[in-house]
Amino acid sequence: MKAREKLVKEGLSTELVDGVSAELLKALHILTRDGDLNADSRRKLKQVSHFLGLLKPALDDVRARHPDPVVVDCGAGKAYLGLLLASWAFAKPARGRVINVESKQELVTTAQKIAKDAGLERVDFVRDAVETAALPERVHLVTALHACDTATDDALFRALCLGADHIAVVPCCQAEVAQQLKGAPESELSPLYEHGLHRRELGSHLTNVLRCLVLEAHGYQVTVTELVGWEHSLKNELILARRVHKAHAPSQKKLDALLKSAGVRPKLVRLLDARAPSQPPPADGAPA
Ligand SMILES: C[S@@+](CC[C@H](N)C(=O)[O-])C[C@H]1O[C@@H](n2cnc3c(N)ncnc32)[C@H](O)[C@@H]1O
Repeated sequence: MKAREKLVKEGLSTELVDGVSAELLKALHILTRDGDLNADSRRKLKQVSHFLGLLKPALDDVRARHPDPVVVDCGAGKAYLGLLLASWAFAKPARGRVINVESKQELVTTAQKIAKDAGLERVDFVRDAVETAALPERVHLVTALHACDTATDDALFRALCLGADHIAVVPCCQAEVAQQLKGAPESELSPLYEHGLHRRELGSHLTNVLRCLVLEAHGYQVTVTELVGWEHSLKNELILARRVHKAHAPSQKKLDALLKSAGVRPKLVRLLDARAPSQPPPADGAPA
């Protein structure tokens, strides 16, 4: 079987396989030097190809409504996602940009070289923390695939402040809320997290539930789904959000009540607490 057929069998859409050069797939180690499928990359490939597939409606939407859409990928790592996006989604027709934010210089340097060798022009790199990275005023889609711990909160905060039309995050490991639960006031819910393992699981679940409520309170319609089968990754929850209103008071009420009863305050909520009074969403954005 040819490598391209194998890629489709692994879950890559034919559109993606046809839109990305073999050279780029080799540089990303998806294909071996001989052009065969690299067995070691299968897991990552599955994650990224599912992610790209699930992002397609958001990409189609921003491409239909904006002449030059901007995607920001937070905690980009080797920029696997951003490079495929730049090559596939933004090459034909050539418009839009992907900005990869990554704190580790060596990863940025490698990804920059791959982009240069592949002749990709619609991709930029910012070597900085998500929290402080310089970003354009108007961003249409913010993504974060397994951005470590609270880096997902930073990505969500930046997306909310920028009024991104769409947000897609697959959170990574989360330790912060589990730690806060340890010191939470005793209540009838305390047995749910007496044991360390339960605390970690509940902390992780609670973090994502609170993130969804924050998004809803800020006027986003939220969908929570599985990225790939659990056999491929344990960090598998995809939160997709699309801005449809300016704000949503009932969700804010639910959020406040849950924060109070759980006795926690995750980073996203603290960042929002400290933020200046909210700006109106961009006028050229999604219906508000
Ligand atoms: C688990 S890797 C995922 C990389 C990539 N998104 C992927 O799925 O292949 C997480 C990446 O986020 C970066 N990172 C973690 N915290 C960050 C932060 N606060 N700002 C920017 N990058 C961060 C790490 O250096 C690492 O490269």
